[in-house]
Amino acid sequence: MDMTSKQTPSILLTGGTGFIGSHIAVEVARAGLRPVLYDNLCNSKRSVVERLGSIIGRPVDFVQGDIRDGDLMRRTLREHHVSAVIHLAGLKAVGESVQQPLAYWDNNVVGTLRMLEAMNDCGVRSLVFSSSATVYGEPQRLPITESHPLSATSPYGQTKLAIEHMLRDLSVSDERWHLCLLRYFNPVGAHESGQIGEDPNGIPNNLMPFVLKVAAGQFRELSVWGGDYPTPDGTGVRDYIHVVDLAAGHVAAVQRLDGMRCEAINLGTGRGTSVLELVGAFERVNGVKVPHVMKDRRPGDVTSCFADPSLALQRLGWRTQRTVEDMCRDAWRWQNASAARTSPD
Ligand code: NAD
Ligand code: WQD
Repeated sequence: MDMTSKQTPSILLTGGTGFIGSHIAVEVARAGLRPVLYDNLCNSKRSVVERLGSIIGRPVDFVQGDIRDGDLMRRTLREHHVSAVIHLAGLKAVGESVQQPLAYWDNNVVGTLRMLEAMNDCGVRSLVFSSSATVYGEPQRLPITESHPLSATSPYGQTKLAIEHMLRDLSVSDERWHLCLLRYFNPVGAHESGQIGEDPNGIPNNLMPFVLKVAAGQFRELSVWGGDYPTPDGTGVRDYIHVVDLAAGHVAAVQRLDGMRCEAINLGTGRGTSVLELVGAFERVNGVKVPHVMKDRRPGDVTSCFADPSLALQRLGWRTQRTVEDMCRDAWRWQNASAARTSPD
């Protein structure tokens, strides 16, 4: 089949030039499907499109646009013969969402609403949604299964919950919809080519991007937020998942959408790693130092959070394959490759 033809059914990736979307594009292409990226570039760069083309080995279709632009969405869905949407577009900074809640409700919730209307108009009713473990709020039991009570501790989390509710209502109203809500734990790492990865603006909030900047000498030290948690070494525990494993989970979900009405599925490893364990693994596999100091707990942080990923194995035939060491190695390769690209000589 000629995968470059616009007649070939395609998978639309909203937020496709972002951190997770770009990795999904590679896995979608590897699975023999045609990715089409749709992004307004508010938190990613156009250069990702060319780099994806070089990883995949052929040009990748890109539409610059906003998910709130219903006319452009409808045109894109029709012109590219879209058969399913993977919906990643959204704002994701927890702290910023507290400062600018309306921007988050508009972009994430209104944006999803407009996109669903456009999909319905075009008869495209298959969707995989980027949800988050944030919908579980403060964990009441570990590991977290999909039946864990849902709550939100930030406007960002509220928007993810609201979208999940919107999708459930839609599913009840019309059985032609096929919906999968993937709840990610902590995605980190990068593609092994070093060409795509996480590229946050300004000072990173998340652990791995900050570790990278400290290892690269851009920041003096890492603040470890809390050394007095009731965990083996006193630091917070999370379920870090390699972004390429996460991407493969989306392809598995897209391929099984026909058998689903509306299902929520965790994507995680099932294994908790503490801040100090992650820092130790990073130093060991990459042979670099990550100077760090213990600080007070960060407000809003939970002690431990990790997935029960057994439903993903059962429903998607998917499980993670990459280790914390792989995450550290691939993230560092990406950091060094992007530093080399931006250096003047
Ligand atoms: P990202 O910011 O790198 O990617 C999101 C992309 O969406 C960006 O390229 C941005 O330009 C685009 N975008 C935002 N609003 C848009 C709009 N209105 N129209 C079109 N494009 C728009 O973030 P990411 O880490 O790749 O996250 C992707 C999705 O996964 C998000 O929905 C996020 O909430 C969800 N998620 C991320 C994490 C994480 O830790 N990274 C965890 C759980 C869930
Ligand atoms: C991980 C651990 C910190 C930075 C967030 C969102 C969540 C989801 C993923 C989207 C914690 C510690 C961190 C630092 C540190 N996103 N840490 N020093 O908070 O688990 O989850 O991203 O849905 O909604 O809340 O991820 O990477 O910020 O923190 O000690 O400089 O690292 O305290 O224990 P978090 P994180």
